[in-house]
Amino acid sequence: MKAHRPTPPAHCSFDPEDWLRLARCWHPVARACDVDNKPHKAVLLDEPLVLYRINGQAVVARDVCPHRGVPLTLGFHDEAGIICPYHGLRFGEDGRCNRIPASPDQPIPAKLNLMTFPVEERYGLVWTCLAPDTDNPAPLPTMPRWHDAAFQQINCPPFDVNGFAGRQVEGFLDVAHFAWVHSATFADPDNSQVPDYSPQETDYGFTADYWSTVSNYPSGAEDRAPPDFRWLRRFEMHLPFTATLTVHFPGEDRLVIMNAASPVSARKTRMFAPIARNFDLHIPVGEVHAFNLRVFEEDRLMVETQRPEKLPLDLTLEAHIPADRSSIAYRRGLKKMGFGEFFLV
Ligand code: FES
Ligand SMILES: [Fe+2]
Repeated sequence: MKAHRPTPPAHCSFDPEDWLRLARCWHPVARACDVDNKPHKAVLLDEPLVLYRINGQAVVARDVCPHRGVPLTLGFHDEAGIICPYHGLRFGEDGRCNRIPASPDQPIPAKLNLMTFPVEERYGLVWTCLAPDTDNPAPLPTMPRWHDAAFQQINCPPFDVNGFAGRQVEGFLDVAHFAWVHSATFADPDNSQVPDYSPQETDYGFTADYWSTVSNYPSGAEDRAPPDFRWLRRFEMHLPFTATLTVHFPGEDRLVIMNAASPVSARKTRMFAPIARNFDLHIPVGEVHAFNLRVFEEDRLMVETQRPEKLPLDLTLEAHIPADRSSIAYRRGLKKMGFGEFFLV
C-alpha cells in the first residue's frame, strides 16, 4: 500500500487541524453489500473516494487516476480491476496498476498505483481511515450483539442529511426530543418529561443508561409491555461520530441500532445504520428499513436547520436544560480530543 501524506483535500470545508483529527479516525464509507467489482463512489471529509472489490477484498482509494487525474468512478471494470476511462490504465489488488494499454510490454512504475487507504469491514460496513496514526491507531467503534448468533443483522440503506455530522449525532443522543419529533413513530406526546440520568466517561467516549416509560413499540402497534414497564435505553458514544443505542424491550428482547454518521463534508453527512435484534424475526427486513427511515426523516428538518450549522464546543454559547447531560458529555468529549473553533462556525 502506498503511504499517504495526510493533507486536506482542495476545497476542504473543515479547519485543517480538525480535518487531520477527523482523518485519523475510522469512518464508514459504504455498506459492504454495495461494493462489488465496479467502481463505487464515496466522499469522506471532502475527499472523493473510489471503492471496489477484487478477489473479495475491498479497496478504498482516492478517486484520482495517477496518470492524468481523471476520476476512476467514471470508468469501468473487468475481472482484473477497475479501468480509467481516459487511457485505460487498470488497477487491481491494493490499488496496483496492472495494465497500461499504450505500452503493454513495459514494466509498470509503482508511481502509477492508486493512493489507497486502510480498510476494515465490520457491521456490514466498509470503514476507512484517511490519515492513520501508526503510533496511536484509532479504535474502530464496537457494536453490541452484532456477532451474537441469536441476533438478526440488518443494514439499512444509507441516508443523506444536509447538515454537520456532530449535530446529527447529538440529536441521536438527545432523549428530550422524542415526544416532540417522534410521536408519529414511537414516542408519546404526553410523556415528555426526561428522568434523571448520568453519562459515564469511557476510553472511547461515554455511556448513558436512560430509564423511562417511553415505549419503543411503533405507534399504532399493540404495546406488549406490562403496565408501568420501565424501558432502558443504553447509549454508547464512540467519539467522534458513532453512537450505538441498545433498547431493552420486555423480557430478553433487545434492539441495537448503530448511528454511524459519516462526515462527507462539514455540511453533509451520510448516515449508516446497522441494526441487530433478537425478536420479531418474522417481520420482513424491509419494514425495519422503512421504520428506521421514518425516524431519521423526522429528525431531518431539525438537524438541517439548526444554527450555527456546526457544534459549539464552548458550552457558554448555547443554553442548556437538565435533559442535555448527554449532549454536554458529547461536546466535552470532542473538546478533549482537541477539536477547535471549526465546530463553532
Ligand atoms: S488519466 Fe487515467 S489512464 Fe490516463
Ligand atoms: Fe431523533
